[in-house]
Amino acid sequence: MLIGLIGGSGLYEIEGLKITREVSISTPYGEPSSAYKIGSIEGREIVFLPRHGIPHKIPPQKINYRANIWGFRSLGIERIISVSAVGGISRDMSPGNIVLLDQIIDMTSGTRIATFYDEDAVIHVDLTEPYCLEMRDFLIKSSRDIGLSIKTAGTYICVNGPRLETSKEIQFFSLIGADVVGMTAMPEISLAREVEICMAGISVVTNYAAGISGSKLTATEVVETMKGSMEGIKSLLKEAIVQIPPVRLCPCKDALKDARF
Ligand code: HPA
Repeated sequence: MLIGLIGGSGLYEIEGLKITREVSISTPYGEPSSAYKIGSIEGREIVFLPRHGIPHKIPPQKINYRANIWGFRSLGIERIISVSAVGGISRDMSPGNIVLLDQIIDMTSGTRIATFYDEDAVIHVDLTEPYCLEMRDFLIKSSRDIGLSIKTAGTYICVNGPRLETSKEIQFFSLIGADVVGMTAMPEISLAREVEICMAGISVVTNYAAGISGSKLTATEVVETMKGSMEGIKSLLKEAIVQIPPVRLCPCKDALKDARF
């Protein structure tokens, strides 16, 4: 078993993914968002988890991020591609765009349980590069190989939600370097690093963030735009799953080395 996939709003299943079994996992941290669906695409085994459950019922601030990542780990998953919906902040992040994320700013700090190490060990994992550089390279190459236009970098600012932002918050986020805003990337990424799982983040810009376009954001807009970009995402996932090699050469696999005090 090699690659995990976390689907966000709008990605609940993938055509071409033949589910062969479902595994329900209880973890020391509670229940994951749903059963893990195990299947294959083009002969490569993958494990899929819908982040918000099925049907979509778990809000971002209530997702059990620790259980979700622990479940992947206990299935032997070493790499995860995480798909999410975001609001566009930068001028060049327009609805329908697909963004391969490269950085994160965490505004959820303190509001969510964000570590596996809050009792027996003092661990500070390095998060200078929150996304696996090796996976990013393969995703960029895959997008080129299938002729899919994507934004190859973007800084995701993660807010707690569930409310949307004020226009001044978005102005502030823009000033500090955020390109897109969403509610789920953290602590998903840092927890994965704590168990030496590689992460790649693909986001679909579903709307202009608050105050950017002047119109009010609706849930329908988010879902419809996500649907419109799903074909591209699915083609990219299929290609990347085939291209990403079985052996990891990145530093994520040794994240705990030198992290223990
Ligand atoms: N803000 C926060 N999260 C989001 C947005 C947004 O505008 N769009 C999709 N997820």
